[in-house]
Amino acid sequence: MSPKLHPKPPADSLTTMTLMMGVDHGNTAGFVHGGSIMKLVDEAAGVASMRHCRGRVVTAQVDSLSFLAPVHMGDVLSIVAHVTQAWTTSMEVEVEVTRENPRTGEGELTTRAFLTMVAVDRDGHPVPVPPILAETEEELRDQRRAEARRSARMELRSHLESQ
Ligand SMILES: CC(C)(COP(=O)(O)OP(=O)(O)OC[C@H]1O[C@@H](n2cnc3c(N)ncnc32)[C@H](O)[C@@H]1OP(=O)(O)O)[C@@H](O)C(=O)NCCC(=O)NCCS
Repeated sequence: MSPKLHPKPPADSLTTMTLMMGVDHGNTAGFVHGGSIMKLVDEAAGVASMRHCRGRVVTAQVDSLSFLAPVHMGDVLSIVAHVTQAWTTSMEVEVEVTRENPRTGEGELTTRAFLTMVAVDRDGHPVPVPPILAETEEELRDQRRAEARRSARMELRSHLESQ
């Protein structure tokens, strides 16, 4: 097996980004645009998946993205991403976004998303990725749930393509 394809734990892909939401990210009502958060989610998923495969990646699908609570201008966002499972050339990345009022410390989980990222070569063709080495109970549970989500995705894709 090529050293590039040795199994890797989810922790190797762990990505954290912290940034303050300013006027560039928001609307006149003082809330941050959902699209600004989606861009950050995609960037974090990109970094996590590149850390897993140590190569180029593209976003193949945003499988789900739920806005659980609004983000206000002036909030500090923490974006945490990791690869939950890897298949032949694709990887599932879970991204969680938490907001914090830096003056009071009050905060909450605002967004959870799952994305499918595909490793590609210079010409954009899919290339193999290392498997995930799940060891802890939590990692094994994440892996089982990722398999269930992939089955559901595949079923939906084949249903949509057959229409
Ligand atoms: C994603 C992409 C590389 C797949 O290429 P392809 O020739 O269709 O490749 P394949 O059919 O062999 O699929 C390759 C892998 O991607 C997965 N895949 C392809 N399309 C997918 C989709 N819409 N959703 C989820 N997974 C997808 C396949 O399940 C397969 O995974 P596996 O190898 O782990 O089993 C290609 O569709 C692409 O380049 N899309 C545009 C990506 C892009 O521009 N993103 C935004 C900017 S980064």
